[in-house]
Formats: sequence, C-alpha cells, structure tokens
Amino acid sequence: MRVELGKAGALRGKLSPPADKSISHRAVLFASIAQGQSVIRNFLRAEDTLSTLGAVKMLGVEVQEGPEEVLIHGRGLRGLREPQDVIDCANSGTTMRLLCGLLGAQGFFSVLTGDASLRRRPMDRVAQPLRAMGATIQGREGGRYPPLAIQGGALKGIQYRMPVASAQVKSALLLAGLYAQGPTKVLEPLRSRDHTERMLRAMGAELSVQEGWIGISAPQSLHPLEGTVPGDFSSAAFFLAAALMVPGSELLIENVGVNPTRTGLLQALRRMGARVELLDERELFGEPVADLLVRYSGPLKATDIEPQEVPLMVDEIPVFSVLAATAQGTSTIKGAQELRLKESDRLSAMAQGLARMGIKVEEYPDGLSIQGGGLKGATLESFGDHRVAMAFSVAALAAEGTSSIEGAEAVEVSYPDFYQTLRRLLR
Ligand code: S3P
Repeated sequence: MRVELGKAGALRGKLSPPADKSISHRAVLFASIAQGQSVIRNFLRAEDTLSTLGAVKMLGVEVQEGPEEVLIHGRGLRGLREPQDVIDCANSGTTMRLLCGLLGAQGFFSVLTGDASLRRRPMDRVAQPLRAMGATIQGREGGRYPPLAIQGGALKGIQYRMPVASAQVKSALLLAGLYAQGPTKVLEPLRSRDHTERMLRAMGAELSVQEGWIGISAPQSLHPLEGTVPGDFSSAAFFLAAALMVPGSELLIENVGVNPTRTGLLQALRRMGARVELLDERELFGEPVADLLVRYSGPLKATDIEPQEVPLMVDEIPVFSVLAATAQGTSTIKGAQELRLKESDRLSAMAQGLARMGIKVEEYPDGLSIQGGGLKGATLESFGDHRVAMAFSVAALAAEGTSSIEGAEAVEVSYPDFYQTLRRLLR
C-alpha cells in the first residue's frame, strides 16, 4: 500500500494510542502458564500481538476474545500441549524470542517460523544461553536463524552475562528460569525495558535484583493476571513528534505508559527544547501511566544520543532521526548497532529516506549523524517495517511538497488505525 501525504496544517485534539505491544505480548504469554483465568483488558489487536495469541492457542490454551477483554484460561506451568503444526510468529521478534524461553522448558517438540524479515533476525542470542540451560534448539545457519526446531526438557539455572541489552533475551531467560533447577541470573550491559520483571512479580514469582543481576527461581505456580494494558509510548511517540514538527499543533495523548525504561525519548526531547507535560500520573497494571500534553515549541535544537540512552528509546530512534532532521544543528546517535537487527535495518532505512528528503545524513556502523535542514517531499520506502513507515509519515507532514510512503501497510504490526488517527487530527 502506498500512502501520499503533504505538508500539514496544525494537528489538534486528543488521541489514545493503541495498547502497549510489549505488555500485551507478555500478558497473553504469561497468563497461559498461570493457574486459573486471567482477564486482560485493552489487549492490543494488531498483527504482532495476534501472533502471540495464535501461538498460545496452538499450545492448547483456551482463549475467549470479547470486545473489551481477552480471557485466558491458564494451564498452569506444566499444562501446555505440543503444537500440532509450525507456529508462525510472522513479523514478531518478541513472539519468537519469548516463546523460545518458554518452549525450551516444555517436554515436547515445537517449530517456530516467521516472515522474511523475522527469518533474517538473529536467534542465537536466545538459543545459545537456552542451550546452556539444557534445551535443544536447532535452526538455519548453525542454529542462528529461523525456522527453529525446539525440543524442550529439564533445564538447569545459569548465570548469564548478556552481551547485548535486550529485553527479549532477558525475558526468554527469565521464562526459562521459571522451570529451571536452581536459580537463573541474568546481567544486562545496560538496562532495558522491565515489563517482564514487573509482571512476573505481580504473578507471585520471586525475582531478585542485586547489582544489576536479575535472579529468578522456579515457583510452585503463578497467579493469574487481571488488568488493563496501558497505551504504547512507542506509538504515542509518532504523534509527539508530529506535534513538535508542525507549527500551531497541540495534542493531548491520553493513557500512555511512561515506564522510565521506555521514555528515553522524553529526555532527548527536553534537551531539544520541546514542551511535553506529563499530566495525571497514575499506575495501571503495575506500570506508570500519564496523559501527555504536547505543544509545538518552535524550532528544536540538535542533540546527541549516547549509547547508554539507546535501550531506553530503542524503538524511537527512527522517529528521533526525523525530529533531528528538522532541528537546528547536527544531531548524532551512537551505540545503536542493534537497530540494524530490527524488523529492518533501521539505520540504513532512515539514512536512505532522509537523504532522499534532502537531508545531509552520515551513516556509521553504530549510528547516524543528521544535519537538520528543510525536508523536501520524496518517495520513501518502509522496508516492510512499521516504525519506519510511521516515522516517514510524520516526516512527510513537515516536508515541502508531497511524499509517498511505500509499504505503508506495515503499520498493521503495531498501530492498525495510525492513518485514520492522523487524518482525524489533521482536519
Ligand atoms: C521488545 C524489546 C526490544 C524492542 C522490541 C520489543 C520487547 O527489543 O525493540 O520492539 O517487547 O521485549 P530488544 O529486546 O531485542 O532490544
């Protein structure tokens, strides 16, 4: 699908972003192994999280889907069943990596695959430590790439220093740790999102954190979940950016998760001189939530993203690079090599598109340097990546002339009504 967008007048009004993708995946997956029925309200119905829902159904979990809530009849820690067919994780790295942790501990055989993008993404980062725990995981190219064949079994706890900061790897190992003999401990080089830790604790798992090491031991059982998934900060970020790039804009973005392990973009925006207010800060489903009031704040100033900030805004780097392209001065992003291993190579995708829009961009193995300037309309490729499609859509609103976004259907992965919401706010 191609979407054409031109220079926009002010964006005004209210919106509620879709439910948090990371939390929706986890809620469904963890509820499947709880003892009893979980009630999950505001579950994200988008392609990625529907992959996780499809997967748990294939593992024998009964799911009731209503308009307001999803009921998951947890089968207990030992109640999952061998799937009858290959589990298709489609575009979802979170589905595949978290499932590896869970399935590596089940006494049965399963096969995981995905779309062309997911089949290019490295799985050895989860497979290798899970093998050290006792799981058998095979895949293409020496076990690195999907499809993956998993024979689960009895696991033993390990202590593992993760080479990359990754919430997906951390979560997979903590899930496996629920089944392992002896404690499992993981250490991240930098802090990544902590939704798994929060949710497993709420379910009664014993989780310890000492000097950065996150430890877990096998519980007797997990309590079911009941709660409402907050809105996704990563989806809200596109409208934050749009309001900050189009003069006269003012948006109230309601019910947004503001977990500090997710909101690195807000710190960067403050340095750039943006006005974003957090209103009515509260808690939902064990997560901090607020309404975000954002007003066009005049031209933004360039800023530098340092490596330690990257995990706190890992999914916002594409939209940050668009903001940087309109800022005064040169912005840099360092330590973001992980971006090359996402749904697309996001550093290269953004460098290519921004260059087409007339921006001076330098690409490095681990980042970008972006000289702010006037954006010109162009034909922009999503590379099948939802966040790239949305980042370029926002860029188009601030560009002279018309832009077309090729492969815009990718937004279905995390934000199915992105374009409807955009058009409503532009009226
Ligand atoms: C996610 C973690 C991040 C993020 C992804 C979702 C999660 O990936 O980029 O979109 O839900 O755990 P990594 O943990 O691989 O950095």
